[in-house]
Order: sequence, then C-alpha cells, then structure tokens
Amino acid sequence: MTHPDRLPPTVYAASPEAGHGTRTARRRSARDRDEAPPVSELRDGRLDRAGVTLLLIRDDLVDPELPGNKRRKLKYNLVAAREQGFGTLLTFGGAYSNHLRAVAAAGRRHGFRTVGIVRGEEHLPLNPSLAYAVAQGMTLAYLDRDTYRRKHTDAVLAELKQVWGDCYVIPEGGSNALAVRGCAELPAEIDAEYDVLCCPVGTGGTLAGIAGGLTGDRRALGVAVLKGAGFLTDEVTELQRQAFGAPTDNWRIDLDHHFGGYAKRTPQLDAFVADFHRRHGLALDPIYTGKLLAALYDLADQGTFAPGTRLAAVITGSASFDAPHGGASTNCPTPAGALGPYTMAAVNAGLRAALAL
Ligand SMILES: Cc1ncc(COP(=O)(O)O)c(C=O)c1O
Repeated sequence: MTHPDRLPPTVYAASPEAGHGTRTARRRSARDRDEAPPVSELRDGRLDRAGVTLLLIRDDLVDPELPGNKRRKLKYNLVAAREQGFGTLLTFGGAYSNHLRAVAAAGRRHGFRTVGIVRGEEHLPLNPSLAYAVAQGMTLAYLDRDTYRRKHTDAVLAELKQVWGDCYVIPEGGSNALAVRGCAELPAEIDAEYDVLCCPVGTGGTLAGIAGGLTGDRRALGVAVLKGAGFLTDEVTELQRQAFGAPTDNWRIDLDHHFGGYAKRTPQLDAFVADFHRRHGLALDPIYTGKLLAALYDLADQGTFAPGTRLAAVITGSASFDAPHGGASTNCPTPAGALGPYTMAAVNAGLRAALAL
C-alpha cells in the first residue's frame, strides 16, 4: 500500500512528518506536541470486569473551533485549495452539519470565502448550527432534497459553479482522499500504548485514515452510527484505495450499535451518555462518540475483546459541536452571546471539566 508519507510533495509540504513511522523514531517538534491529542485512561469497573483497558484520545480538545476529525479532514484539502489558487471553498451538509460549521470556521481562519449548500429548504430564524456558520462568514444556499441527492454529479456541480464561480469543492462530510491522509496522522501522535484504535463511522473517512496510519499489529474498529450501514465497508475500502493506493486489512466496522439510525436516540443510549457524564465528567455527543463508547462497553460485556486488550477510543468531536436538537452546550467554541445558550463562560467551564478527567 502507498502510505501518506508518499503524498505529492506540494501537499506533503505542510506536514514533513506525516503519519507513519514509530513514535520513538519520530522527532516531534514543539508544534507537534502542542497539537497532539491529550490521552486519559478511563477507570471503570465494567471494563475491569471484562479485563480490558480503555484510553480516551481527546482529539476534541486540540482545536475547539475545528474539533477532532474536522481539523484532520480539512488540513490537506485547505493546502490543496490554496496551492491550486482557489479563493472559495464550497461544501454540503444538512441543517445541523458539523462539517459545514467546521468549513466555515476554517475558511475564516485561513482566508477563504466559504459557501455552504444546505439540504432542503431555508428555515428562519437559522438554527444555532447554521447561525454559527454564517457568523463565521459562510454564505448559505439551499438545494431541494432531490437535487441535493445528485449534488456530486457533474451536472449539479457545473450549475453550482456557474452560480458561485470556480471553487474548491469539498464533499459532504469532508471525506475524500486528502481527508483520509489527514486522519492517518493521528496514530503517530498518540503517546500511549494500545492494541485497538476505535472511532465512530459516518462516511468512513476517519476510519479509513486512522487504519491507514496504524503500525505493527494494531487494529482499528469503527462503530457505524447509521442503520443498515453495510455499504460502509466498501466506502472505507474505496477511500483507502484513493488515499493510499490499496486498502489495509487491519480494520472492521461494527454495525450493531446505531441505536435506530443516524441522529436517532434511545432511552438506553441517553442513559449511557448521562451515566458516563456522571462517572467521568465527559459529555459525549449522542450522535457519534456516545454510540462509540456505548458500543465498546457493550462489546466488552459480551466478551468480544480478549482479556488484556488495550482499547483506545478517539473522541472525534465535542458534545456541543454536535448538538442538533438545540441542547445547551458545555464547551462550544462560539463567541460569547452569539447563540443564546452558548456562552464563553460555559465553554471555559466545559473545557476545564473535560481536562480534569
Ligand atoms: C464528531 C464526529 N465523529 C465522527 C464522525 C464520522 O466521521 P466520518 O464521516 O469520517 O466517518 C463525524 C462526521 O464527520 C463527526 O462529526
């Protein structure tokens, strides 16, 4: 397989020490260390009983504006957009899309104009998620659901480019080969020992990347957050083919912990998330990381992992960033006062609580 350290030189230039290589062999700069995710070990009797240990890889804490996989997925796309001379980023998402918000924030930070194509009709006033994107300077436009389904076809893209000019198009969810290469950098940044690196799976880009970045006998486990997501195996395989030249055989996807489907919740999931918050002080989002952790506990209970297995779970986003039901947040990166219940005081309190894990 082709590893991310064989990125085209222009793109590779932004990261001279891309994902691979052993941690000990890799000289890490101060900047690398600043950007590496904090790691904490979870002490929990339920895991002890199953004989497994669990590390939380707090990728959500590295860059609160672009938490977790958002920063990794966008990194090389922004480099490519800049190098190819684009001034505008155009992307797609639902009305509560984390990805739209992240692209808006990244565009503002790095000097790109941003256009967000939203699925469905405009609803005013904007929900907090879209209001945040607009506050970051994103221009929103809406596509009816039928056209939205065809958004990645040449015909629809050509129409969009007629309206918005020549822009760098980032797919819905941000998963493409460059995103996968960005995610592949995570394993080498983890300063701890583990056997299985676990993450939630929506479009598959994050799993494709972290599996591609693993070394030795380590394996990756993805937990699908969608119902009937068998197709994701093909998606991850294809993303790895595009990113690395060939898929790796060190990952699998659990399809049994979607709790009813994307953004669906059950009393059991809500109880797990609330209990986890009480015990460990970390508010998991019910869409991604809540399902990931609930799955790991359940799989551990079922004896899926051999005793002694060291699990590491990537916290791919923050609860507030993923709050699609307008729930109050604890660590939202939104400027004070901009979005009703989201305040900087809450941001700081939430971050302090999270860091004190
Ligand atoms: C917090 C969070 N975790 C996980 C995912 C799933 O990542 P992917 O779409 O790469 O599978 C997403 C969506 O991008 C997300 O917002």
